[in-house]
Amino acid sequence: MEGIFIGVLCLSGCLTFSTCLLHQYHFVSDAKTWTEAQSYCRETYTDLATIENTEEMKKLNDTSSAAGNSSEVWIGLYSHIVWKWSDGFNQSGAEYRNWESPDPNNHEANELCVAMDKNGKWIDEDCNEQRPFVCYNGTLEDSDFELVNTSKNWTEAQRHCREHYTDLVTVRNDADRDKIKNLIKPFPWAWIGLYRDPQIYWSDGSNYSFSFWHKGYNKLGSMKVVCGVADLKKGGNWSLFSCEETKPFVCYSMRGWCFLE
Ligand SMILES: *[C@@H]1O[C@H](CO)[C@@H](O)[C@H](O)[C@H]1NC(C)=O
Ligand SMILES: *[C@@H]1O[C@H](CO)[C@@H](O)[C@H](O)[C@H]1NC(C)=O
Ligand SMILES: *[C@@H]1O[C@H](CO)[C@@H](O)[C@H](O)[C@H]1NC(C)=O
Ligand SMILES: *[C@@H]1O[C@H](CO)[C@@H](O)[C@H](O)[C@H]1NC(C)=O
Ligand SMILES: *[C@@H]1O[C@H](CO)[C@@H](O)[C@H](O)[C@H]1NC(C)=O
Ligand SMILES: *[C@@H]1O[C@H](CO)[C@@H](O)[C@H](O)[C@H]1NC(C)=O
Ligand SMILES: *[C@@H]1O[C@H](CO)[C@@H](O)[C@H](O)[C@H]1NC(C)=O
Ligand SMILES: *[C@@H]1O[C@H](CO)[C@@H](O)[C@H](O)[C@H]1NC(C)=O
Repeated sequence: MEGIFIGVLCLSGCLTFSTCLLHQYHFVSDAKTWTEAQSYCRETYTDLATIENTEEMKKLNDTSSAAGNSSEVWIGLYSHIVWKWSDGFNQSGAEYRNWESPDPNNHEANELCVAMDKNGKWIDEDCNEQRPFVCYNGTLEDSDFELVNTSKNWTEAQRHCREHYTDLVTVRNDADRDKIKNLIKPFPWAWIGLYRDPQIYWSDGSNYSFSFWHKGYNKLGSMKVVCGVADLKKGGNWSLFSCEETKPFVCYSMRGWCFLE
């Protein structure tokens, strides 16, 4: 490609030209764990790939065509999975779970709230779903569980419980589960108090705002941290895996020059 280089380093003044913001991607075919890949990228280039817009997604796609049969390549995304109870409960029983396999599946990386089904099994869901919900009144030690037969999203359900009762319900053991299950019986699902914050980060500390998630499952199991891949056989869309898996990866370096075409 013919072009004209502007013979200055791309310092703050250049940032007004969008072309200067582009990351330059480097595909590395050696399969490594995410953490090893991160170290390699930091030593050799700048960091694991950060992708901030569709144009960059296309560039990464082109760069990685050399990947051949490798489908999934690590990029710089990672996420902490920290479940919390709405009432802040963190004592014995706070870790009680009763997931319905394959949940928590974090469909499209957008399932941050938890509902119980009429069999007492839990699913993670988009917090925007409208569902009936279960509140508790009084204290957990001496609690009164109440089903609210009005569909609300998780946040509105939490607000309602806090206004009229104590909070959305906390489920600490099989006995709590069975009491709640009986209340839910007439419905397919109801919200309970379990949720998590998104906590998705780029390795280099960039703000996570652009996303390109695949429309499918990201099985979280009981993992505390998960790492992101671009799946080149699925249009480059992103998904989450155990960070301990070994995969080829994509690093980036900053473009040092402003480039006019
Ligand atoms: C990546 O390339 C494939 C074909 O090689 C194409 O189908 C897909 O849409 C591309 N994805 C992006 C984000 O450009
Ligand atoms: C891709 O996989 C197919 C079938 O497994 C194999 O025949 C082909 O040689 C592979 N191509 C590359 C570039 O590794
Ligand atoms: C549990 O929550 C209480 C009240 O919010 C807090 O003071 C305490 O540090 C927490 N304990 C643990 C182990 O997180
Ligand atoms: C829940 O519903 C309220 C009222 O309709 C809306 O303002 C809010 O954005 C929704 N929040 C979530 C997380 O779905
Ligand atoms: C919740 O409990 C308080 C006292 O523990 C009681 O006064 C109130 O009526 C209860 N609320 C409902 C809706 O049952
Ligand atoms: C829930 O509320 C609707 C409308 O108020 C009512 O028709 C329905 O019978 C209620 N269902 C249960 C199980 O209470
Ligand atoms: C990330 O976004 C927040 C809020 O939009 C902003 O205050 C912060 O400066 C941004 N951080 C970086 C590193 O761009
Ligand atoms: C890939 O991500 C884009 C942007 O979020 C989305 O429009 C598209 O449907 C996704 N494709 C797949 C196969 O998940």
